[in-house]
Amino acid sequence: MPSAFVTGASRGFGRLIVERLAAAGWHVVAGVRDPAATVPYTAGSVDVVPVDVTSPAEIAAAAAAVERATGGWLDAVVPNAGVAVVGAFEETPPEDVRRVLETNVLGVMETVRAVLPQLRRAHGRVVLISSDCGIAGAPGLSAYVASKFAVEGWGEALAYELEPLGVAVSIIQPGPFATGIWSAAPIRGGEGAYASLTPILAAGWRAAGERAAPADPVADTVLRALSVRRPRLRYRVGRDARLMAAARRLLPSTVMRAHVRRVSGIGRWRPSRSNGRRRHRARARGRLRGGVGRGRLRRGRVRCRWWPRGR
Ligand SMILES: NC(=O)c1ccc[n+]([C@@H]2O[C@H](COP(=O)([O-])OP(=O)(O)OC[C@H]3O[C@@H](n4cnc5c(N)ncnc54)[C@H](OP(=O)(O)O)[C@@H]3O)[C@@H](O)[C@H]2O)c1
Repeated sequence: MPSAFVTGASRGFGRLIVERLAAAGWHVVAGVRDPAATVPYTAGSVDVVPVDVTSPAEIAAAAAAVERATGGWLDAVVPNAGVAVVGAFEETPPEDVRRVLETNVLGVMETVRAVLPQLRRAHGRVVLISSDCGIAGAPGLSAYVASKFAVEGWGEALAYELEPLGVAVSIIQPGPFATGIWSAAPIRGGEGAYASLTPILAAGWRAAGERAAPADPVADTVLRALSVRRPRLRYRVGRDARLMAAARRLLPSTVMRAHVRRVSGIGRWRPSRSNGRRRHRARARGRLRGGVGRGRLRRGRVRCRWWPRGR
């Protein structure tokens, strides 16, 4: 029976992946932060181990538990645990940024490192859960985007190193799907220069979460990446991720950014008019071509564009 270790398995994608693999005949070790609070799995052969991926000691203990459960031959690891925070970067507290990077990047890396000896023995597979936020930047999600770009680059580098050792790496890029991640994400800031921006971002990402489709295709794609003879390096899941990848590949950067502005809901956003130095700064920006933002005087009124055009 093939074996897999999945982190962040208490809910969302992780739980679905555990259930999908177990139903397909896999022996799954489900890593959860709080086993007592986890609703029992109904399908197949599942062992639950406690693991907070920001704790090196818990990762080491979980890897030892995986080794005991699988006899040291692990066919797959899916380091899925992840968190998000919403807000303008300047107003996102460093501890939130650190929490996102420690969970989504270092947690993923150290989970993989801890089980690599078992994966190499079994010529197993690594399936990373990235995002369409690993394809293009999205306003209000800078820490999350940074974490997913890091996973993309690291995973691609890792794939070269592990291929000769018989371990394949796949990176899954889901668009938005209905899980608890967006309702759980704290919203930070919303004052001063960003007073009118943060509510738009918060409403936009929450609405995207509420509109999103059920996450089953993500679990199906993980199972496919683990079952096919030659897994691909990247799998895009859902229309949004496929569109974003195509837009990144095909559109000029200015059109691409207009697309991101539109889908993130900030297309019509202008910085708040409460800033007393607005006119002065807009004039200065108008002269500094290519600076951070460009101001224009139109019919006697100042309009500030957040991004310079044509970059
Ligand atoms: N949903 C989407 O639209 C979407 C799209 C693209 C990518 N993703 C990615 O998919 C992955 C799963 O997200 P999801 O949407 O399923 O979110 P979710 O429903 O909020 O589930 C997140 C899971 O991660 C666990 N977790 C959080 N911090 C952890 C830590 N420090 N140690 C161990 N486990 C931790 C949570 O455990 P607790 O129950 O203990 O909190 C939970 O099981 C993430 O990497 C996310 O970035 C999601």
